[in-house]
Amino acid sequence: MCGIIAYAGHQPATPIVLQGLRRLEYRGYDSAGLAFIQQGIIHSIKASGKLDALVDKTSVSSNPLLATCGMGHTRWATHGVPNEINAHPHLSNDGAFALVHNGIIENYRELKDELIAKGYVFYSETDTEVLINLIAECRKSTPDNLRAFQAAVKRAQGAFALVLLCRDEPETIYATRKSAPLLAGIGAGENFVASDVTAFLASTRRVIFLDEGDIIRITPNSYQVLSLEDLRPLEKKIHQIEWDIQSAQKGGFKHFMLKEICEQPQVLRSALAGRVDLEAGRVRLPELEGLARPSRLRIVACGTSYNAGLWASSLLEEWGRIPCVVEIASEFRYRKPILGRDELVILISQSGETADTLAAMQVARECGCATLGLCNVIGSSLAREVDRVIYTQAGPEISVASTKALCSQMALLTLLALYWGQEAGALEGDRLKKLLADFSAVADTLEKHLPKLRVDVELFSLRVAAARNVFFLGRGRNYALALEGALKLKELSYIHAEAYAAGEMKHGPIALIDPEFLTIAIAPHDELFPKTFSNIEEIAARSGPILAITENGGDKHLRGEIKWDIPPLADPFTSFAILPMLQLLSYEAASYLGKDVDQPRNLAKSVTVE
Ligand code: M6R
Repeated sequence: MCGIIAYAGHQPATPIVLQGLRRLEYRGYDSAGLAFIQQGIIHSIKASGKLDALVDKTSVSSNPLLATCGMGHTRWATHGVPNEINAHPHLSNDGAFALVHNGIIENYRELKDELIAKGYVFYSETDTEVLINLIAECRKSTPDNLRAFQAAVKRAQGAFALVLLCRDEPETIYATRKSAPLLAGIGAGENFVASDVTAFLASTRRVIFLDEGDIIRITPNSYQVLSLEDLRPLEKKIHQIEWDIQSAQKGGFKHFMLKEICEQPQVLRSALAGRVDLEAGRVRLPELEGLARPSRLRIVACGTSYNAGLWASSLLEEWGRIPCVVEIASEFRYRKPILGRDELVILISQSGETADTLAAMQVARECGCATLGLCNVIGSSLAREVDRVIYTQAGPEISVASTKALCSQMALLTLLALYWGQEAGALEGDRLKKLLADFSAVADTLEKHLPKLRVDVELFSLRVAAARNVFFLGRGRNYALALEGALKLKELSYIHAEAYAAGEMKHGPIALIDPEFLTIAIAPHDELFPKTFSNIEEIAARSGPILAITENGGDKHLRGEIKWDIPPLADPFTSFAILPMLQLLSYEAASYLGKDVDQPRNLAKSVTVE
């Protein structure tokens, strides 16, 4: 939620800040703003709506190009409607300080009352404006800006990443974080602070991951990390980021989402690279070395990452021979779960910053369980706080709708199932070897068939775009894919979509079926096909239109339905083809309807609030 970028260097700051905001726009896009210091005054420019509005406004403003130090913010509203007044940065009443903020100050009301009593005036509805005035107030009784920042932040409760600009230190940026992402980019004669590496990847790949309660001070030629507690200097490792800027650009595709869907063959190769030894028929997961075989698995995640866990749970039981339960993080964290100490809690998160998933990890810890994170973003909070982490190596996912990250999560969970099956000797004879060979062939098959799927989908997506209501049905692992299909369609096209386990239809939802209500049935020709087929028949008998995602084998059974053939893959790897079919269906339907595919309304990529 919200993207932050700050720059201290020798180049004009505004274009760098705007470029950084462009890369961070996926984190929030209801308003944006920036601040810089010129001729002893903090100037701020803010605009509601997408970043383009701020770019337009900045280009006509009074020469902001001279400032070489500045900061910017792209917002996903928490306190107050998305308008220009509530947009960040916020300035203190005396104009001496400006602040950008990602997160929530939970005790802002009491702080605000205290400041109002002292004569402060508030113009916005935000918690951020409270904090910047508290910094100004603290400055009256502290010897410098750093100590004022420290004193105010110590009083703030909640989760936040903050960047501070001070009028009397025009070349310095201060920043701190608590339960919200923030890192520093270390360049040559220029330094950055941002929510995400993509914001400054064009300038530097050298990164410092800030820990909870770190304060950083950057100037063009220096950086210093201090402890918020006592301002003690801290030693920090500089990490080299492998991602390059191309991987965070559209690369000729119309949208990031389409690019990311099409990257899935490569994502599969990358997930398997070095982890599958085809000759020996073995899975290698060094990340799990020394970990005792868990007695039970508890997968906890949100949204698409939850769907990954649900998809994999049957494989973890069938191949891995470990009982597995999957839970939604926002429920798990508050329901006081009973966990065994020999249970392994697997937390799945693309961003590694999802507040509910991080809280779930804390619950698992308190229960004395080992935690394993499946995470895409290197150095994210989850990756750093779990006992063990497996990186999914999908590369930066920019589109708000998650696509390739799910593919990578499913791939890693498949490897985990095979690994635990291998370690327990549960996959007999050449079975493991055969499964690994089939799994390794998926990327090539998908790559070969993706161009045809992209053509086919245009026809099917028109039918979907015309629908007002859509059911997605599936059984077993395909139920998890149905959930994902419905989630994608909802978030991209705003068409009402629900997923049901196909067998549940007759227990109530079938009452909704009429000639207008579209059903998308995921029906590969697997062992459950006859059952799903019966459910499709029941819908057809009630004049419900059906789009069946099926295989050649299923074709002869399905009569009046529209059919879309799944590329030929062995079960359960069919899922790796069904997934992009569902993603393309929503992508095309939403594009046809003229929706903002990469930045759907009301959403943000990384959900760092409850
Ligand atoms: O970063 P995470 O995987 O923890 O994010 C979880 C969900 O917020 C995320 O998957 C969300 O559901 C996506 N927008 C779905 O496309």
